[in-house]
Amino acid sequence: MFDRSIKIAPSILSADFANFGQEIRAIEAQGADWVHVDVMDGHFVPNLTFGPPLCKAIRPHISTVMDVHLMIAPVDPYIDAFAEAGADIITAHLEAGPHIHRTLQAIRGAGCKAGLALNPGTGIEDLDYLLDMADLICVMTVNPGFGGQKFIHSQIEKVQRLRAMIGDRPVHIEIDGGITPQTAPLMAAAGADVLVAGSAVFTGGAVDTPGPYGDNIRAIRAAAEQARQAG
Ligand code: DX5
Ligand code: ZN
Repeated sequence: MFDRSIKIAPSILSADFANFGQEIRAIEAQGADWVHVDVMDGHFVPNLTFGPPLCKAIRPHISTVMDVHLMIAPVDPYIDAFAEAGADIITAHLEAGPHIHRTLQAIRGAGCKAGLALNPGTGIEDLDYLLDMADLICVMTVNPGFGGQKFIHSQIEKVQRLRAMIGDRPVHIEIDGGITPQTAPLMAAAGADVLVAGSAVFTGGAVDTPGPYGDNIRAIRAAAEQARQAG
């Protein structure tokens, strides 16, 4: 079941907010592997998006994987609500509170896969006692809060070191922020397997003309897979 094949996870932060259902069906029809949902609280990050009711409303439109990225603090009081809304994966930030171990336990306890996200300024030295608690490590390649930011190159080395640290454990490496056909291969070669992309997937298309979504997804995937093969 676990595999390290390249997976493209479009972020609906760049979708048409008035048409989430249609947008999700369109990106899945155009080849998306997962659907990435960016939850922001205006406190942990300087932007506000949506919460469990929206996740619940879009769940019936998702036939792949609902990948919920929580950029909120605190996390624990909301885990059950996101699990009940149908999240397959719930990712919390290491920086969101002092008890990330408990948070990861609670996410698994709620029946979801547990993800752990790291801001660009956070190192991987705290992961020794967390790697066996997580199904996914999300390396942020921008400072979280907004779509359309520039990829931070220092994170390539972090992913390389993280990939070595993970070894044979069934833990995905997800990267999030500034992913394009130009930056995706750098991260695929470094060891990432889940590539989140918002603006680079939704650019040029719309719900009525979703063809460009497919072109964009294929371009990111092809660049990443080529880099993998070359490595
Ligand atoms: C940033 C979010 C990302 C973001 C990605 O805080 O976690 O998922 O929407 O958007 P792009 O691909 O536009 O950088
Ligand atoms: Zn995200």
